[in-house]
Amino acid sequence: MTLPPSVFLIEVCPRDGLQNEREIVPAGKKVAFVEALAEAGLHEIEVTSFVSPKWVPQLADAAEVFGKLKRREGVVYSALVPNVKGMERAIASGVRKVAVFTAATETFCKKNINMTFAESLQAFLPVVAEAKKNGIAVRGYLSTAFGCPYEGNVPPTQAAIAARRLADLGCDELSIGDTIGVAAPPGVEALLGLLKFPKDRTALHFHDTHGTAVANAFTAAQMGFSRFDSSAGGFGGCPYAPGAAGNVATEDLVYAFEKAGVKTGVDFPKLASASRAIGEALHKRPPSKALAALGPMLPNTETNLK
Ligand code: HMG
Ligand code: MG
Repeated sequence: MTLPPSVFLIEVCPRDGLQNEREIVPAGKKVAFVEALAEAGLHEIEVTSFVSPKWVPQLADAAEVFGKLKRREGVVYSALVPNVKGMERAIASGVRKVAVFTAATETFCKKNINMTFAESLQAFLPVVAEAKKNGIAVRGYLSTAFGCPYEGNVPPTQAAIAARRLADLGCDELSIGDTIGVAAPPGVEALLGLLKFPKDRTALHFHDTHGTAVANAFTAAQMGFSRFDSSAGGFGGCPYAPGAAGNVATEDLVYAFEKAGVKTGVDFPKLASASRAIGEALHKRPPSKALAALGPMLPNTETNLK
C-alpha cells in the first residue's frame, strides 16, 4: 500500500458537528472547544458559519465566537459563507479563510441554500472577488458528490463537471463532500480519477453513515490525496440532508493513519479530551469508534455521558 508520509486534517466539528445538533452550545463552550482542538495539534479548524440564523440557529453566534477566540499563530480558522451578506460578516470578524458551498445535485442545492447550482455560482462570484481583494483564502465545497438524499446515486462525471465549474470561480481549495456517507472505495477512485484540480489543494469530506469513511480516506490517500476533513468525536451532519451521520471522526482517522505509519500531527489524548467536553455539552456520547476503544485507557475517563 502506497501512502503519503503525512496527512493534513481539517477539523470541522465546531461547524459541521454543531450545526446539526438540537442542543445549542453556548458561545463560551464553542470557543473553549476550538481552542482545545488547536492545542491538540489541529492546524485548520472550521469554526462556524456566517449563514442565515433562520436556516441554522445553532451557529447564529458566529461573530461572538470569532470575537472571543484566542487565535494561535500558524492555525487557520475558517468559516462558511453562502453570500455577500455572510462575507461582510466574516470580514468584520477578521476571518482569513472562507468556504462557499454548493452541490452536484440541484435538489440538494435548492434545499440547502435555496439556489440552483448556476445561481449558487453567480452568488459566489462577488464573494470570491471580495476574498481576493482582502487576501482571504477560499474553499469551495461540492456536496452530494457521491450521492444525494433526494436524487440518489450521482454519476462521477456529473460531480467532476460540477467540481470543475466551482474551481473555475477561483477557489484556492476544493472539498469534495460525501454529504450522506454513501460512498465506497470504487466510487471514490472513480470520481477522484476524473478531477482536474491539484491534489494538494483538494480535501475529501467523508461522512460516515455506512462506516466506509476511513476506507474511503485510505483510497484517496493511496491516490495521492492528503487533505481530509474530519470531526472531533464524529459528531455532525447537515440539517438539510436527513439521515446523514457525522463526518468521519478525527480520532478514527488519526488512529488509522498513525497505525499505518502516516503522521497526522494530532495529540490523541488532547483530542479525546476536547471531544469528551463537547460531548458533555451536547449530552451525547461521541460516535467515534477509536475514542470508544482508547478512551478508557486515557486519563479523565469519568464522564456523565448517556
Ligand atoms: P434565503 O431565505 O433564500 O435568503 O436563504 P434571503 O436572502 O431571502 O434571506 C433570508 C433571511 O436571512 C433574511 O433576513 C436575510 O437578511 C438573512 P430577514 O430579512 O428575513 O430578516 N440572511 C442572512 N443573515 C445572516 N447571514 C447571512 C444571511 N443571508 C441571508 N449570510 C441562504 C439563502 C443561503 C441565506 C440560506 O439558505 C442559508 O443560510 N443556508 C445555509 C444552510 C447551511 O448552512 N447548511 C449547512 C452547511 S452545508 C453542509 O453542511 C455540507 C458540507 O458539510 C459539505 C458536505 O457534507 O457535503 C459543507
Ligand atoms: Mg458535511
